[in-house]
Amino acid sequence: LNVPVLTIDGPGGAGKGTISGLVAERLGWHLLDSGALYRLTAQAALKHNVALDDEASLASLASQLDVAFPVKDGQPRTLLEGEDVSREIRTEHAGERASRVAALPQVRKALLQRQQDFRRSPGLVADGRDMGTVVFPEAPLKIFLTASAEERARRRHLQLQEAGVGASLSSLLKEIQARDARDTQRRVAPLKPADDAITLDTTRLSIPEVVDQLTELLIQRG
Ligand code: C5P
Repeated sequence: LNVPVLTIDGPGGAGKGTISGLVAERLGWHLLDSGALYRLTAQAALKHNVALDDEASLASLASQLDVAFPVKDGQPRTLLEGEDVSREIRTEHAGERASRVAALPQVRKALLQRQQDFRRSPGLVADGRDMGTVVFPEAPLKIFLTASAEERARRRHLQLQEAGVGASLSSLLKEIQARDARDTQRRVAPLKPADDAITLDTTRLSIPEVVDQLTELLIQRG
């Protein structure tokens, strides 16, 4: 339990994934992309014809995921059974399905210990919604990364354009607002800053500025 953990929670599209990957790489720490676990559970459900309200079967799928989160050239990757699935699980549709699966208590329970097992020397950067509140409540440094919904929609739009995927800004904004509502209003592990979290609003910050601020905070905390 002496292994340090930096938790980075916040709403979708706030830049947690990018920032977590860069900070993990700079520190040489491990990475946990907890959102990918929910995305992969939803994807496995599709593959095995499991309905998104079949809680027991979904929990069983979640407990069997063989997943790893290496960082390559500052980019966080998701490997499922050794295969890079980073791109295919990042669609807005996959995110929407993930947030439905993530509202199920048995699924969250099945993933709890697995997430804690990512805490290995020399340290862990944990990215998600409940890293600081539920999974690593004793983490020495907790960040709540946020940005306005409009700015998050704008960033998603840019990201998708770069990936050659078409999407309208207004529909992205609606999707982001719907996912925010589901994540903050659910009964189990709702999205909210831990009492001892530091909130960082990145609406007007660049990625390197955020990485610098986080690294600075980690140094201050020793
Ligand atoms: O972060 P990402 O967009 O990949 O997360 C997808 C969905 O998974 C979120 O909308 C949220 O519902 C769920 N999630 C969660 N707890 C986490 C990480 C993600 O409930 N720690």
